[in-house]
This record gives sequence, C-alpha cells and structure tokens, in this order.
Amino acid sequence: MKFFIDTADTAEIRDMAEVGLLDGVTTNPSLIMKSGRDFIEVIKEICALVDGPVSAEVTAMDSDQMVVEGLKLAKLADNVVVKLPLTWDGLKACRRLVSDGVQTNVTLCFSANQGLLAAKAGATFISPFIGRLDDLGVDGMELIHDLRAIYDNYGFETEILAASIRSAAHVQECAIAGADVATVPPSVLKGLVKHQLTDKGLEAFMADWAKTGQSIL
Ligand code: E4P
Repeated sequence: MKFFIDTADTAEIRDMAEVGLLDGVTTNPSLIMKSGRDFIEVIKEICALVDGPVSAEVTAMDSDQMVVEGLKLAKLADNVVVKLPLTWDGLKACRRLVSDGVQTNVTLCFSANQGLLAAKAGATFISPFIGRLDDLGVDGMELIHDLRAIYDNYGFETEILAASIRSAAHVQECAIAGADVATVPPSVLKGLVKHQLTDKGLEAFMADWAKTGQSIL
C-alpha cells in the first residue's frame, strides 16, 4: 500500500520525504487555507519535493471551468493530479481531462455507486472518505471493502485512495481491505511507529546494556 500525506505544509512533507516513506501528497482547499500560502506556489513547491502524485483540487463548480482550471494545474508539474469533486460536472470534467492525458483524483466519495461512476469516468484515483462516514455513525471501512470488490469484479484500474483517515487502526484496516493508497495526516503517519512494548523493550535493553559496561565504538 502506498502512503500519501494529507497536508499542504511543506515542512512536514520535507520531513516525511527524508525518511523515504512518502509516495505522494494530497491537498484540498481547506488544507491550503490552513497553510496560509498561495495555492499555485505551494503546489509547485510540493511537486518539487516529492516525485509521486500530488493532488491539487479545482474550485469551479461547472465542468467547463473545471477543465480549464484542471489544465492550468496539470501544467504546473508532471506529477500534478487534478482533484475533482464527485458531482455530475466533476465526472464530466474527469472524462475530458483523462482524454487529454491528465491524471485525476475524484474526491468526496461516500458511496460505492459514486465510486463505480468515477471508475467508469476513467478516474486515476478515487478518494473514499472514511472518517467523515464514521462521524455519521456509518462504518467508513465498509466502503473500502465494497470498492475493492467492485473494482476487482470488473477490472477497473482506478486506484482506491483511502482518505479522511483519523487513526492508526484506519491505516491497518485499509491495508487489510486492499486499498491501493492511504492518504494520512502527518501526525497519524508518524504515530504508526509507536508501540508501548517497543518503548518498554528498548528501555530494558538499554538498562541491561549499561550494566555490561561495554561500548560498540
Ligand atoms: C483527502 O484527499 C482529503 O484531503 C482528506 O483526507 C480529508 O480528511 P478530513 O475528513 O480529515 O478533512
């Protein structure tokens, strides 16, 4: 499973890229607002930091304007993926951009039928939002399982990019469910390394090592 990081904070992206853990980046208008940066400038900077796909979201509501914005974003760097909302206009724009050789990420997917439509529109990625479904008391992970089954039934190549991930358990369950990618907030990604038994075990090893009075160097 590939790891994308869900942020527009270039310091965090640089930090993750240095560990070699980063396969791509996703952004959205809320994350751009949070960064306080110019959208075009920050996308260019992220694309220079990361070799993998970088999702940049259109903000137009009609398909013609989405295509115009999408083509502009796609020209910023070779690894830009144009993010489009899961609306009728978004699907139309997706089909047109894909025909022009632009990679697309159809976002705000909350049902398997929406995901089926996005795959039929040729989306490169589909972004099902797990956490926001969980917030409604619906099991978001079921959507990942359903999309996996549907895409496998028909051989769709659209990659399942699990989004709105809130916890380490979400990441693990996505991997078990066969998501192609998980886009994860930096804090959750860093938290994956933590286990209380690792900390406890290391503490005991170091205490015993000190008792030996030895040093490796
Ligand atoms: C994905 O592309 C979205 O940017 C993101 O995962 C949304 O997550 P949230 O529901 O925590 O805002």
